[in-house]
Amino acid sequence: MKIRDYLEKKDKKLKKGQKRIKNFKVFDFNYLPDRPLMRDEVKPLVDGLLRYKSSGIANHLLVFGSRGSGKTMMVRHLKRLLSAKLQFVYANCRRHNTSYKMLAHMTGNKPRGNSQEELWEEFTNRYSAPAVVILDEIDLLSGKDRHKDILYLLSRSSAGYMTVLLSNNPKFLSRLDESIKSTLQPEIIHFRHYTAHQIRKILEDRAEAGLKKTDKTVIGKIAALTTKKTNSDVRVAIKTLYYSALEPEVEVEKHFERARRDIYVDVLSDLNDKNLLILRAAAEGKSRRAKKLYSSYRRLSSRAGEEPFSYAYFYSNLSYLQSLGLILLVSTKIKRTYTNRIQTLVDLELIQAVCKRRALDV
Ligand SMILES: Nc1ncnc2c1ncn2[C@@H]1O[C@H](COP(=O)(O)OP(=O)(O)O)[C@@H](O)[C@H]1O
Ligand SMILES: [Mg+2]
Repeated sequence: MKIRDYLEKKDKKLKKGQKRIKNFKVFDFNYLPDRPLMRDEVKPLVDGLLRYKSSGIANHLLVFGSRGSGKTMMVRHLKRLLSAKLQFVYANCRRHNTSYKMLAHMTGNKPRGNSQEELWEEFTNRYSAPAVVILDEIDLLSGKDRHKDILYLLSRSSAGYMTVLLSNNPKFLSRLDESIKSTLQPEIIHFRHYTAHQIRKILEDRAEAGLKKTDKTVIGKIAALTTKKTNSDVRVAIKTLYYSALEPEVEVEKHFERARRDIYVDVLSDLNDKNLLILRAAAEGKSRRAKKLYSSYRRLSSRAGEEPFSYAYFYSNLSYLQSLGLILLVSTKIKRTYTNRIQTLVDLELIQAVCKRRALDV
């Protein structure tokens, strides 16, 4: 086939695919559904916000759950429902990764020129309680921000702000300084992995809002693949639905792999070098026991000229990598004792490509 023929044929096919889509925005990850699927985990979140609204007494919350478990969407939805009665302030630590940058963002300043004290004063003048301060992806706060001043300021403030922290990493709290932990004392809410049934429901709603026709068999397949091969990351499911609508003649499994890959590239790019090397060791290794994996990780680190994590730190990072949907920790029984085996969910080639881009030669 000539290039020109291929191009024309493909173009025609894609145009046809696009006609199956009623509303493209529905497939954007920032799209906020009118009626998200209800789940029990939302109740303590709603209860906490309502208690604050009526009493003015802050009870801080820490919501954790793996990527794509609906944390951001849910707080945005509640914000929409309650914004007439409560003031909300939102900052994402991925974009503003130090206390200083977050304060600058929330006060509408550029992150330069002012001192942190000045920014905090401006913050307190600008927002009077009751105000809910949402700090999304708080686990991505830079390691350079040792004292996590923003949490200290918010929890010690006499103004009575309520803080809602969202984290992918379940270990976030245990890494905080005792002084912050003791004043913050957040109520912990765990967003569990969605079941295949719940994902199916979410996809059916998406399909109804965004597609001209809903194919229930395709949706069932996507939901099953998503729970089996990811940590129930709804993002992967939604993207697969979109690709399947564009090219229904291609198998769902292929679209699923492509969607998973697209999303992994984003996740891998956000990892720091140490975690990237742990993941690489996991993907390269045959034996997947934590102790063995730690030795290969150390070997890779020394080849890359990186100082490795201690075993304890390495071990706690495994649960972080799991919360990002990159590995699975499977507990298996060997001679009456349980050990964790590590299963990698990302292709080695993809990890290698990201290492290469960062000049992490191993
Ligand atoms: N209960 C739900 N109902 C409808 N859509 C959902 C639900 N939970 C998650 N989603 C969708 O899944 C995607 C991932 O959710 P998001 O809130 O970004 O996850 P997280 O912040 O936990 O990583 C978003 O597109 C979101 O709209
Ligand atoms: Mg989020």
